[in-house]
Amino acid sequence: MHLTDEQLRAFDELGYLFLPGCFSEAEVAALRDHAGKIYAQDREEVWRETSGAPRTAFAAHTYDEAFRRLGAHPRLIEPVSQLFGEPVYMHQFKINAKAAFVGEIWQWHQDYGTWARDDGMPEPRAMNIAVFLDEVMPINGALMFIPKSHKAGVLAAGHDRETTSYPLWALDQETVTRLAEEGGIVAPTGPAGSVILFHGNLVHASPPNITPYPRTIVYLTLNAVSNHITRFTRPEFIAHRDFTPITPLPDSCLADFAASRRQAAE
Ligand code: SIN
Ligand code: MN
Repeated sequence: MHLTDEQLRAFDELGYLFLPGCFSEAEVAALRDHAGKIYAQDREEVWRETSGAPRTAFAAHTYDEAFRRLGAHPRLIEPVSQLFGEPVYMHQFKINAKAAFVGEIWQWHQDYGTWARDDGMPEPRAMNIAVFLDEVMPINGALMFIPKSHKAGVLAAGHDRETTSYPLWALDQETVTRLAEEGGIVAPTGPAGSVILFHGNLVHASPPNITPYPRTIVYLTLNAVSNHITRFTRPEFIAHRDFTPITPLPDSCLADFAASRRQAAE
């Protein structure tokens, strides 16, 4: 998948790009089913909310075939390599649940703030590419962005180890208010299979999910190979140390996998 000049301009101006309908229902169904099986496992890569509901599952591309294929999918790898003008490797891979009724908050933050402070990443030349596994609605804990905030550089932040089970460098209310006065706040919503690409410095957050509708999103964090991390303070399954460039698989890799599962079930 190749981004057009218009898409590149919009990304540069706003800091994100929303691409609805990138994956088919069959492709998403296979991923959703595998995510459920991973969340049911008791393993160190699966982090939970205080209620015990799953919050995030790390590194599933290293131990699950459906997510291995997603982690090398050309619809995700190619636009990010295009933007950086060089090959990319996987810095982080997570399946964020935001479970029905009990999915908790993600405080306002910039991801590059964590990658720089905790992982010694030299430049904000890594970014997230998110894949919706459920419909994301305004009501079920949608991801919120402050457009244009990626131009603000790395902002001062405090290390929040208390409000959720996942430590995060969170921004204060004054900073968020000031940035929102300039850029506003948006929450891209759409069907399962939609994709969002967003800059490492874009300020984002998500509210709790108190609805009966789960909101699962997979995040690939792809880093330019020449920008690999230099500090190893976090476990390998959270901040990867294998800087091998990803070779994209064929476009049909996930559809083929979904079809073979269906055949096996018949
Ligand atoms: C994140 O900011 O890394 C996750 C936010 C979310 O999944 O809602
Ligand atoms: Mn984040």
